[in-house]
Amino acid sequence: MTDITSLILDDHERFRRAFADLDDLDGPDELARAWEPLADLLDLHAAAEEAVFYPELIQRGADAEDETLDAVGDHNEIRDAVAETRRHPAGSAAWLAAVRQARTANSEHMAEEEDDALADFRQHADPGLREELGRKFLAFKAEHEGGKGIDTGDLDPERYVEEQERKAGKTPPDDGSLGIGGLKGER
Ligand SMILES: [Fe+2]
Ligand SMILES: [Fe+2]
Repeated sequence: MTDITSLILDDHERFRRAFADLDDLDGPDELARAWEPLADLLDLHAAAEEAVFYPELIQRGADAEDETLDAVGDHNEIRDAVAETRRHPAGSAAWLAAVRQARTANSEHMAEEEDDALADFRQHADPGLREELGRKFLAFKAEHEGGKGIDTGDLDPERYVEEQERKAGKTPPDDGSLGIGGLKGER
């Protein structure tokens, strides 16, 4: 079973567990050992969704533009908090605050993604596509294991949506605006 929406949920569950496990740990070495793979997976998961999932949601979701704008904005917040943890020694007050920020941003994002984007996709993508994308999602994660070759910088949400719409053959209006929201009335 490689349904992409199910694989995304699996990662989300891994995040919840891993953040909960951190609560039981103490001392910089223990915390760093537990946090580093979680931090890498947070970055990798967002990049994999942006590479494989959201470009397809854009093409068929009922409310895909808003869901994608929200998601990329949330991914930026999570990436920023993860990057902040890397600027401080594990276990320090600043590190703990950044981990807390990553956790809160990620928890809020997962709930929205699960209730909106994933639900929308299940309703509008056929099972064959969901399986095919699941295989691509796994391949992307394997290729970039540990965050190798991943760009962890912020993405401009509107530019990302515009780029995906252009690739999908949705042309922006003649007035040169991004067309965000402009396609809604056509659906
Ligand atoms: Fe996710
Ligand atoms: Fe996400």
